[in-house]
Amino acid sequence: MAAVGPATRHIQVAEHPRLLKLKEMFKSKFGSLPKFYVRAPGRVNIIGEHIDYCGYSVLPMAVEQDMLIAVEPVKTHIIQLANTNPLYPDYTTSANNIQIDKTNPLWHNYFLCGFKGIQEHFDLSNLTGMNCLVDGNIPPSSGLSSSSALVCCAGLVTLTALGMSLSKVELAEICAKSERYIGTEGGGMDQSISFLAEEGAAKLIEFSPLRATDVKLPSAAVFVIANSCVEMNKAATSHFNIRVMECRLAAKLLAKYKNLQWEEVMRLEEVQAKLGVSLEEMLLITEDALHAEPYSAEEICKSLEISLEELRTQILSPNTQDVLNFKLYQRAKHVYSEAARVVQFKKICEEAPANVIQLLGELMNQSHVSCRDLYECSCPELDQLVDICRKFGAQGSRLTGAGWGGCTVSIVPADKLPSFLANVQEAYYQRSDQSSVPEKQNLFATKPGGGALVFLEG
Ligand code: GLA
Repeated sequence: MAAVGPATRHIQVAEHPRLLKLKEMFKSKFGSLPKFYVRAPGRVNIIGEHIDYCGYSVLPMAVEQDMLIAVEPVKTHIIQLANTNPLYPDYTTSANNIQIDKTNPLWHNYFLCGFKGIQEHFDLSNLTGMNCLVDGNIPPSSGLSSSSALVCCAGLVTLTALGMSLSKVELAEICAKSERYIGTEGGGMDQSISFLAEEGAAKLIEFSPLRATDVKLPSAAVFVIANSCVEMNKAATSHFNIRVMECRLAAKLLAKYKNLQWEEVMRLEEVQAKLGVSLEEMLLITEDALHAEPYSAEEICKSLEISLEELRTQILSPNTQDVLNFKLYQRAKHVYSEAARVVQFKKICEEAPANVIQLLGELMNQSHVSCRDLYECSCPELDQLVDICRKFGAQGSRLTGAGWGGCTVSIVPADKLPSFLANVQEAYYQRSDQSSVPEKQNLFATKPGGGALVFLEG
């Protein structure tokens, strides 16, 4: 193993309580010492929801919470995974026979996605194994991307254990692709920010080609994350993939309407690029081309002149083949309007007018309304939490991440932060059903954190 990789730090483990604890637990678990550690952060998406897989730019920042893995490469072919959280059972497999179970998204499968991504990228066979102890502090199923952080962490663990090197962009692309082994058709936002994040700046993440540009958030504002405490694991239901498929179908129908080669088109952004028109024009085209009533599979087949069998096997994902109705108009309207909001958000951050917080807040509020009404990825608890946050001083508040549960993100003027936190705490969390969860994990201000790192001792 060599000290390679996109970001390696030499540290004294004894000076870092969490690493020290992990090292001691590793020793009692495996009877040996870790050779290196890797961390990969979760993220909060400030604006740009459900548009990365449509080809549009998003604006997330890394959070301080992360996945941390202590690693010891071994000479056998066995990968042994353990987790400091007793809810996640140990798992052992051969490094040369990785099976990812799509039907049951257990924690170790996310590790295996990252491992397999690297293995396939380098076309490696006959791999040796490793002992890994995982310690995560990103609340699971909360929209803060704990699963992608584990995939990214595992990818960097595997790369480091092999003594190989890749750029952060390559790593992000490999991990975005390999997370799909779990069955969800996610975009690349979570993995990109986990690798490309830098402390102090949010990032505009653009795709094809992937790149990240700093976005300086207003210093008089604080971004606050609040957990609705409704858990949503996007791999455990088909909600997420249904939306991806609805966007794909909307793109194909729009392309056909405009006499483009619709067979090749997969994303709503491609339709815009091929037509060379603005997002505002795409919204008008959507009005003309699509209707608000849900489309049946039969109607889609008729429009595209394909059979039901072709729709199922060539366009839809395995877990969406039996869906009866697709809302194409609403999803396309959300995507094109949300993509425009991302552009505006970045512009306002750059221009920083006197009412910058108010303007950014308005865009975040519009984003939530669009997610709730057009994309239908909110839930009553998220809507209630967003209302509470606005009532107590947030200039804007919205669901963040995939939705259907998980967290909200709010923009709050810095001078209002203490009263905001106290009031939201009282209004949302001091209800009987939420009171058992420690306060700090549910409601906290966050700053743009740094990206994935390898730690070597000494
Ligand atoms: C999940 C996916 C991302 C993105 C968001 C919604 O986090 O992994 O790629 O699509 O949902 O914005």
